[in-house]
Amino acid sequence: MPDRRPLVAANWKMHKTVDEAGDFLERFIPSLDGLNGVDVVLCVPYTALAAAVDRTRRSPVRIAAQNMHFEPEGAFTGEVSAQMLTDVGVSSVVLGHSERRALFGETDEELAHKVPAALEAGLLPILCVGESAAQRDKDETQAVLAAQLDADLAAVEPGRLGEVVVAYEPIWAIGTGRTATTQQAQEAIGFVRSKLAERDAGAAEAVRILYGGSMKPDNAAELIAQPDVDGGLVGGASLDPEDFLAICRAAA
Ligand code: PGA
Repeated sequence: MPDRRPLVAANWKMHKTVDEAGDFLERFIPSLDGLNGVDVVLCVPYTALAAAVDRTRRSPVRIAAQNMHFEPEGAFTGEVSAQMLTDVGVSSVVLGHSERRALFGETDEELAHKVPAALEAGLLPILCVGESAAQRDKDETQAVLAAQLDADLAAVEPGRLGEVVVAYEPIWAIGTGRTATTQQAQEAIGFVRSKLAERDAGAAEAVRILYGGSMKPDNAAELIAQPDVDGGLVGGASLDPEDFLAICRAAA
């Protein structure tokens, strides 16, 4: 068995002010004492990034942004670059979340630039992929995942694929309380790994693939116990420090 260290990421989306993030960290960080064997990442809104980096400095927690532009700087009003993120001590970034794809028109073409730009800047990219309910009903899940992976990772050198984290997030499971079954999660994530193996077998064994979509304290352990599931990307249940801690414990 390859030695893949589990990773659990909290996706706070558009939640928490600086004060609210501080309150969360005040409760969450001490409770991590003695928890080993899992990487813990908090994906926080831009406005709370610097404060969150500051407050987690002497902890194992790493801070991520939820999006970035692929250019280092320029006339892109409202955008933030990878270099700006590393400048404030951010170490990771979520790319291609289905909400960004659906609501803000993020395209595979942009993602093909964003993933290598993040790697180049020294950020850990967490690339989200996943099918809609209609696509699953039409038996298109694997085709959708294959197309997203092919497009979004096209410009990443095969040898560097293992440095990317992929999050499989079926859209029908996000924020719905309708979690994928362990079998559905394993099947899709196993497929993602086999797809990456077509480009580099070693990297495919090393790459961490997370499950996301209504992951909760009471279903995290069985999902993460699946052979190809290396952790979780957690939305709703990550807003409460105790719930999120329970999921981190389940992964450790
Ligand atoms: P959820 O969100 O856990 O609330 O379903 C997951 C995500 O969107 O990353």
